[in-house]
Amino acid sequence: MAKQESQTKILVTGGAGYIGSHCCKQLHSRGYLPVTIDNLVYGHAKNVRWGPFYDGDIGDDLLLERVFAEHDIRAVMHFAAYAYVGESVKDPRKYYTNNLGNTIALLEKVLQHAVPSFIFSSTCATYGLPQALPIDEEHPRAPINPYGRSKHMIEQILSDYSKAYDLRFTCLRYFNAAGADPDGEIGEDHTPETHLIPLILDVARGRRKKLEVFGSDYDTDDGSCVRDYIHVTDLAAAHVIALEKLLQGAPSDVINLGTGDGYSVLQVIEQAAAITASPVPFKIVERRPGDPAVLIASNTKARKQLGWKPEHSDLKTIIQTAWNWHRRI
Ligand SMILES: NC(=O)c1ccc[n+]([C@@H]2O[C@H](COP(=O)([O-])OP(=O)(O)OC[C@H]3O[C@@H](n4cnc5c(N)ncnc54)[C@H](O)[C@@H]3O)[C@@H](O)[C@H]2O)c1
Repeated sequence: MAKQESQTKILVTGGAGYIGSHCCKQLHSRGYLPVTIDNLVYGHAKNVRWGPFYDGDIGDDLLLERVFAEHDIRAVMHFAAYAYVGESVKDPRKYYTNNLGNTIALLEKVLQHAVPSFIFSSTCATYGLPQALPIDEEHPRAPINPYGRSKHMIEQILSDYSKAYDLRFTCLRYFNAAGADPDGEIGEDHTPETHLIPLILDVARGRRKKLEVFGSDYDTDDGSCVRDYIHVTDLAAAHVIALEKLLQGAPSDVINLGTGDGYSVLQVIEQAAAITASPVPFKIVERRPGDPAVLIASNTKARKQLGWKPEHSDLKTIIQTAWNWHRRI
């Protein structure tokens, strides 16, 4: 307990989820105490291993009051959100209520308790359809679905709040998070799963019969979509660096997190088949509306401002770490 009191406490919303739990692990390894709030709608209690856990909703005013009363929170990392693009089109209310409304409620508490540093999980979905590649932070923000718009709105709110109040933020715009903790302690486990690599690994394990590949006539080398996959451990490392900069007084900023390289869906399938030594049968189906051919980040700013670079994000390491974890769950 004495040790806990001496540690700098970071509130991690969504810390039982995929990216949040990997960040908690790195926070802990750097000497911080992650204090998690997660309502377990999509997260898993077993992912919360590196600090106290509050099982509840960030929209619950009394719960937030309790957390702030019980802990001297120095910064917030805000991962809690819904993140299914298709669902956000079918049920936008769900997205605006949680991603926007509950984040505004959280920010209210953050301001009331004078916590000056806030890290926000943003997304490349705030850019919409790419007008130039690689996508840098100055690329116009024109999200094409409620999920992307909910994140874009929070970015704008943070910008306004930071000008008016004593709050500095870093918005980290992730491209495609992938892979699993190299120690095999945590990994990606979403229900429903929509992300390519876990879906492929489910097919490789025989838990799913066939993979659907959306479109084969894109303007790419093999006709399938190209995406920028960033290892979740590299994402987590960038969060801790961004946190330390904010704690040292760095100004608010918006930074892409991606590798600057892209892999096609068919390349990912081929690499996964080789690593798992299993066939990955797939069927080409219609394109999904709103899927751009290529999404690749410029990470020049992350390298410069954060002094960060991806270290685990080559496709082989991403798939190998995901497979090591995935085949045990
Ligand atoms: N996974 C990606 O590739 C990716 C890419 C870009 C941005 N993001 C963003 O990163 C963040 C984390 O993504 P993830 O893949 O780890 O998702 P995740 O679903 O695994 O984690 C989100 C966690 O938040 C919790 N949660 C949701 N609403 C809550 C609420 N109101 N109160 C308390 N807990 C709540 C869920 O139970 C879950 O554990 C999200 O904000 C997402 O939009 C993810």
